[in-house]
Order: sequence, then structure tokens, then C-alpha cells
Amino acid sequence: MKKFKLAIIGAGGIATDAHMPPLAEMENVEVVAICDIVLEKAEKLAKKYGITEVYTDYKDVLKIPELDAVDICTPNYLHSIIAVEALDAGINVFCEKPDAISAAESERMKAAAEKSGKTLMVMRNNRYFETSKFIKSYIEDGKMGEIYAARCGWQRRRGIPGKGGWFTTKEQSGGGPLIDLGVHMIDLSMWLMGNPTPTTVSGSTYCKFADTDVADSAHSNFGEKVDDGIFDVEDLAMGFVRFDNGTSMQIEFSWASNVEREQFFVELRGTKAGAIWNPMVGKFMIFTEEYGKTVDHTPNIDNGSVNVHGVNLKHFIDVLNGAEPQFVPQQGVNMMKILEAIYKSAEMNKEISL
Ligand SMILES: NC(=O)c1ccc[n+]([C@@H]2O[C@H](COP(=O)([O-])OP(=O)(O)OC[C@H]3O[C@@H](n4cnc5c(N)ncnc54)[C@H](O)[C@@H]3O)[C@@H](O)[C@H]2O)c1
Repeated sequence: MKKFKLAIIGAGGIATDAHMPPLAEMENVEVVAICDIVLEKAEKLAKKYGITEVYTDYKDVLKIPELDAVDICTPNYLHSIIAVEALDAGINVFCEKPDAISAAESERMKAAAEKSGKTLMVMRNNRYFETSKFIKSYIEDGKMGEIYAARCGWQRRRGIPGKGGWFTTKEQSGGGPLIDLGVHMIDLSMWLMGNPTPTTVSGSTYCKFADTDVADSAHSNFGEKVDDGIFDVEDLAMGFVRFDNGTSMQIEFSWASNVEREQFFVELRGTKAGAIWNPMVGKFMIFTEEYGKTVDHTPNIDNGSVNVHGVNLKHFIDVLNGAEPQFVPQQGVNMMKILEAIYKSAEMNKEISL
């Protein structure tokens, strides 16, 4: 059995909580190095798992002999920079979401993957919930008929991550909740819809809580806060996307918003059935009609305590072993085109054609 040599770049919250634990359990993976610009963070994570090599410069990681893959867990603006350099060096790349901070960057990542022949995969963890997989099979079995429209969102009542730090600094994050949370639910919707190609995008964004002291939530622990730091991104984004096959999608993403409660959801409208996937409020339902009567089902499926980030990482390793990839770089390009166009539409006050 080949053991894949992998290095983690960025030893912050997501690497520590969601990547390293499942990677350490995989028999065919050896995490050989941890890199963080803050040496103590790299050392702390490495020490916990008995990893001896630590780095502060990712360029040195890319020189590790026979390194199979890097797992990029840095702030967003570094994703494409590190990914392209790694691919150019012949190293496979797994990268946290969002793919990049612009469509042009994601195009460069795709081109580098094609040129090198190496695998580029970006985290799409929500596809790996049991309930998501069930809806996907249900659709593929034709039970929902034609899926013609979707709504999705992640509405946080409170939960601005790392206020003042990189998350709220446009230059480093690329944007607020749209780019941070949007990737998750937009991807799940589009994956369930069969990955149609976006054609037009309309959006509006707002920033109403940057200069306020709104309460924190568990989500505020992502990233590190910086007192008197920068907050030049949105805290709410709304939008509408049309696709080449006539389908469409409404979206809403917030870090802070005076809504009833936090929820993340996907709703699908099909000709034979509709579906709602909303784990935070415990709602997972199929709406259909049988014998001339409307019928609602709640499939008896438990998402359990499965670490979906770990399942996605395992899929990446399976792909290195020859499995068919469930994510291809063009999906990242389409995602970044949508996100970028929503920001552009909000700025220009008009619909954008892609
Ligand atoms: N898939 C998910 O559910 C999910 C959840 C949270 C975060 N994320 C993503 O994971 C990434 C990291 O988020 P986080 O919450 O762990 O942030 P974080 O700030 O806790 O961690 C980022 C780490 O990267 C390090 N870093 C910065 N520049 C670096 C460089 N040049 N080289 C090496 N290390 C560098 C920082 O010192 C920090 O330790 C982000 O892109 C975020 O969007 C994904």
C-alpha cells in the first residue's frame, strides 16, 4: 500500500480541528510536515501528532523530496498562489474553500493542474453529509423529476469570524459571508442541480455591523480578532443566479443579520418533488404528491457525527490512488465567477452577464 506524503500549510483553526485529526487516522497518509508563518503554531500542531518537520515558509515545503501533496489551510488570498506553485512543482493540491479570491485566480489554478497533470481538489465538505448524498441519489433516480430552481443560504444572526483580522480584510479574504459561507451552500445546490453553468448574476451586499459591538457566537472564534483592525467586507449578501439550462438560484449569506436564528439550507424545486435540507434546524424533507394527495417525507437518515471534512480529504487521497474525482477545477472557476459577479453587480447596481 502506497503511503502518500502530505504537508499541511497553515496550522490554524481548520487545520487543527478538521484536517489533522482525520489525516492522522488514514493508514495510507503520512503527514510529514506542518508549515505556518507563526512557528509556534506549526510546532504546536506538529508536536501533538509527533511530526518532526516544521516550516515557516511554504516555498521550503515545496522542496521536500517526494512530497505527494499539500493541504492548503491558509487565509484565502494565499490559496491560488500556493496551489499554482505546488502544481508547477509537480505536487498534488488539496485546498480549503474558497478556491481563490477571484475568477482569474481560479482559472490559473485550473490551468496549472492541467499543465502538470496533477490533482487539484478544493474542499466541498457539505456534499459528504449522508443527507446530501441521499438527495443526490434521489435526484439521480429521477424521483424529483426536473430540478428547475433552488434557494440556498447561510444566515447567521451573529457570528463574524476574526473581526478585524484577515477574514474581514477584503485584500486577504476576498469578501465577507458570501465568499466565506457562500461556497458551501452554492456548491451543494449546484452539485445537486447537476452543476449547470452560470450565465447571469445579480446581487446586493451590505455592511451594517462593522462599527458595532454585536454579540459573538461560536463562529467568531474562527480566525483571530484584531482590535482596531480592518473590516471592509460585507456582512450580508443577497443574489440571484441564472444558469445555461434555464434553472435559477436565490441566495442569502450573512455573518450578522437580525433574523430569527442561524440556519444553513438548500431548497430544491423539482417537477415531481421538492426538498429542503436544513440540518441546523433539524429539517430534512421531501415534498411530493401521491394518489392525488400532497405527501411530505422525512427520510430516516442521520448525519451522525461524521467529520465531512475528513471524508472529503479521504476522497482526495482515493483520487490520488486512481478514483474518479467528484470535484473538477472547472467547478471552482464557475463558483468564483458567480461570487465575483455578485460583488460586481452590487457595486454597479445591475445584472452581470458571465
Ligand atoms: N471548510 C470549512 O468548513 C472551513 C471552515 C473554516 C475555515 N475554512 C477555510 O480554511 C482556511 C483557514 O481558515 P482558519 O479558520 O483555519 O483560519 P486561521 O486564521 O485560524 O488559520 C490560518 C493559518 O494560516 C497561517 N498563515 C497565514 N499566512 C501563511 C503563510 N504565508 N504560510 C503559512 N501559513 C500561513 C496563519 O498563521 C494561521 O495559523 C480559510 O481559507 C477558510 O475559509 C474552511
